[in-house]
Amino acid sequence: MFTKFKYSRLNQDTETLKLVPSAPTLNRRSRFRLFIYLFIAFIFFYHNPFNSSKSQRKRKVKTKDIFKHLDSFYSIALAHDNSRSTINGYPQVAKYVISKLEKHDVCTPKIQKFKVPLWAELGPPTLELVSGSEKIHFIPNTDFGYHRYGGSSASLNEKDFLFLKNGGCYISDDLVLISTPPTAKKPSAARVRIVDWKEGDPLVSIPVLSITHSTFQTIKHSKESKLNMIVDSRIDVVETFNVLCEGKYGNRNNTIVVGSHLDSVAFGPGINDNGSGAASTLAIAIHFSKNHYRPKNRLVFAWWGSEEDGLLGSRHFVRDLVEKDEARNIKSQKSDQEIDISYKEIAMNLNFDMLASPNYIPFIHNGTDAPNNARCGSERIQHIFQKYFMHIKKNYKITDMIGGSDFLPFILNSIPSGGLLTGASEIKTEEERLLFGGMANAPLDPCYHKYCDTIKNINKDALKLMSNGALYSILHFSNSEDLRADLQKC
Ligand SMILES: *[C@@H]1O[C@H](CO)[C@@H](O)[C@H](O)[C@H]1NC(C)=O
Ligand SMILES: *[C@@H]1O[C@H](CO)[C@@H](O)[C@H](O)[C@H]1NC(C)=O
Ligand SMILES: [Zn+2]
Repeated sequence: MFTKFKYSRLNQDTETLKLVPSAPTLNRRSRFRLFIYLFIAFIFFYHNPFNSSKSQRKRKVKTKDIFKHLDSFYSIALAHDNSRSTINGYPQVAKYVISKLEKHDVCTPKIQKFKVPLWAELGPPTLELVSGSEKIHFIPNTDFGYHRYGGSSASLNEKDFLFLKNGGCYISDDLVLISTPPTAKKPSAARVRIVDWKEGDPLVSIPVLSITHSTFQTIKHSKESKLNMIVDSRIDVVETFNVLCEGKYGNRNNTIVVGSHLDSVAFGPGINDNGSGAASTLAIAIHFSKNHYRPKNRLVFAWWGSEEDGLLGSRHFVRDLVEKDEARNIKSQKSDQEIDISYKEIAMNLNFDMLASPNYIPFIHNGTDAPNNARCGSERIQHIFQKYFMHIKKNYKITDMIGGSDFLPFILNSIPSGGLLTGASEIKTEEERLLFGGMANAPLDPCYHKYCDTIKNINKDALKLMSNGALYSILHFSNSEDLRADLQKC
């Protein structure tokens, strides 16, 4: 039930953290309590239809196994400036996933390459307002800051600016300043980018800065003034890849794509976000191999690259399938290992992103949010997750399925999708605390997109609950006699 872990620094040279289970010590009273628990657990398992089948072993994935992978992800992040981002740490963590998959007989691992724009801040920006001999020097990260993907380095002196009607922007020939709403206290860290960038698309070349509303007001009310600005950033187009593992068994006309993203943000190791989803998917694939699971419908496991740069990996995957489907006769010139999946074969997608937020809420994506062509199937997927929580008698909450994760390219292309998550920076309400436990008035994941999203940021109860929910839905759909008909039941 409760396994205690302590952390010890085993290797001083490489600063690798290793997870060491502490030996359980039981006194007589706790032994007796353990006996009662086991007895209750036995009764429960015996009568629960979810567990009573012959294939009971198949129906649980060990949190311990997921943790082993997370620990490896974390060691890799520590060796790469605390990150698993596209250029730093991602290739190494992908190599780890592939090597694990190659040892097992469940699916054939392949990589699928694509290009992404990468934006990097090289130094702090400066922004000055010059009016005659007066100069106002704004403070970076307080009065203004970079927009991610907001152009590359530039040095601009004494530039005129114009007021833009739509959204309070100032612009000159080669500069954009975007103001935050009056209520915001800090400059926005939002990203300026073409949402669905692909190779050949233009990049934002002029610099873009975020300014606070008060900076905006200062500039607006200063008469006959000009701006000085220096930004030190760059955008490079680099190659990255998805890791796909094509199932060897089951009807390929009813392919199920089970995905999670494997990259992290640049400035954190991303162990909950979204290492927890990626490690759970890996543990489930290996679990199937060990149990010789033969699904009726083919499973394709996917670990997306470059999610944090704008869902670029999953978007590439779906776009590539759709394009090949539209031009079936044109031979593809891809140098990648040929991906043996076609658009028409994909019946559905399951997405597992953050599954172990410290102050978690068990969320299920709302299938009704999917566009018309994917709605019915997505609602069916939502209901199967609900069935899981009802079986184990746990509360859950429905959350939107509008943007923000890798289900998006699927539902936008008529493929039903759904998934679980445990929450990011949202604040838990008192009402939610009563339903789900944890702490009210605190974020669900205080380390979301931060340096502290380490192995210590993982809630093991959440991981256990959610990874078994993932497994439950994968087993349900991969065992469905007629998956396409099942997805019409809404
Ligand atoms: C898959 O679909 C194709 C065409 O729709 C059909 O010819 C083939 O027999 C199907 N395969 C299976 C295993 O159902
Ligand atoms: C699910 O989404 C639909 C459509 O956006 C909305 O009407 C409904 O209230 C949502 N359900 C829940 C439980 O949030
Ligand atoms: Zn993230």
